[in-house]
Amino acid sequence: MIKGIRGMRDILPPEAERWQQMEAIARQVFELYGYREVRLPLLERTELFARSIGEETDIVAKEMYTFDDRHGESLTLRPEATASVLRAVLEHGLEKGAGVKKYYTLGPMFRYERPQKGRYRQFYQINCEALGVDAPELDAEVILLLLDLLGRLQLGEMRLLVNSLGCRQCQASFKAALQDFLHGKEGLCPDCRRRRETNPLRVFDCKSPHCQAMLQEAPVLQDHLDPECAAHFARVLELLAGFGVAYEVRPRLMRGLDYYTRTAFEVVAAGLGAQDAVAGGGRYNGLSQELGGPELPAIGFAIGQDRLLEVLPQDLGQDKDSKIFLAALGNSARERAFALLRELRGRGLAGEMDFEGRSLKAQMSLAERLGADFVIIIGEREIEKGQAVVRKMADIVIEKGEEKIFIEVKTGPMVKGEQRWVSFEQLVDYLKELIKPKEEPR
Ligand code: HAM
Repeated sequence: MIKGIRGMRDILPPEAERWQQMEAIARQVFELYGYREVRLPLLERTELFARSIGEETDIVAKEMYTFDDRHGESLTLRPEATASVLRAVLEHGLEKGAGVKKYYTLGPMFRYERPQKGRYRQFYQINCEALGVDAPELDAEVILLLLDLLGRLQLGEMRLLVNSLGCRQCQASFKAALQDFLHGKEGLCPDCRRRRETNPLRVFDCKSPHCQAMLQEAPVLQDHLDPECAAHFARVLELLAGFGVAYEVRPRLMRGLDYYTRTAFEVVAAGLGAQDAVAGGGRYNGLSQELGGPELPAIGFAIGQDRLLEVLPQDLGQDKDSKIFLAALGNSARERAFALLRELRGRGLAGEMDFEGRSLKAQMSLAERLGADFVIIIGEREIEKGQAVVRKMADIVIEKGEEKIFIEVKTGPMVKGEQRWVSFEQLVDYLKELIKPKEEPR
């Protein structure tokens, strides 16, 4: 037997249905905020990620799935989406014109990390990017969008961590101070010794407890913010506070990618263990120019869907379509049922039937297993009468305190186990009235 690859999961029903619900809610929220979807390739030129995420980052140095294609060109499975979104924006001139350009994208990312709970080699992100404006109001709006979305998904306990990474000038001043600090330290790991010279900000990503302990005394970027960057950050915090958002300023929150400038943030959730960041993001004002584009301030975030789903409620509260099972006994009944099934589906109602000639009892238990809400029973007697039996399986009830209210339909409420005779001519209309699908196909 050939097995799947370590760190790459199969997402199967009913779990896949939770993914659909999560993504449907994300799309609704993006729409509210004026975002439009982009769908981008999973493969990009390796250089795109090396230049944007940075050669010294863990992602680029250790975690990318990189290979030469048949013409010897180095390609990489995207480890994140921001670089690809920006590449596409610049390639298609989407950055032109006034105002904020807002794009979202959903899909798999690939990083060769050590798999563990909440960490996979193929994982999924909900990615949001807002380009063209440097105003702190946009930073606040993007963070509010993230929190709204997580709230709509009913994420329980979460914390918003924020920091400012300053502009490239602030970072240069900070890097010099950090290098001075690191030069005075013994026992740095080989990675950190190298990074101290090549890209000192990346020492903060080191996982060695010894290096981490040492970094507790390191200078912080906040002390190197120029007045504009400090004012920008103060305004973002003021706006968040004004909307009643609880945040924690984390001066050592550096994020693991080189492109960040100014506002950076993460959301951590309770109940996830070591991999507790469900979302991360920030500004990347310089990235467009670093990729050869025009000046294009931007900010965004990505939510890790795999992790997030671990801590969301089982039922995300999106209504599911009711299902109908057609139980037919005898050849002419089966033929009638097959025709009805086609009509139901044509009218936007989900239905199924048995093609294997099972007994009525076996068909009823199959209906149960499939989670049918209604069973239509058609046997010889029904064919003769010109009517089918409609049987309600699960209850459609609204609970109001102690009281249970059965949903009223034109013909009166129908309760669990109840059966009705309905003529074949009226059957589909009757079911439509009972079920009322969200939208009828055109
Ligand atoms: P990131 O912090 O590298 O940022 O990833 C964002 C989120 O993706 C993390 O908080 C985590 O939930 C999830 N994630 C990352 N790696 C894994 C993994 N191996 N397994 C499962 N989940 C994972 C970015 O990717 C930036 N592109 C975000 C951004 C967008 N910044 C600006 N715009």
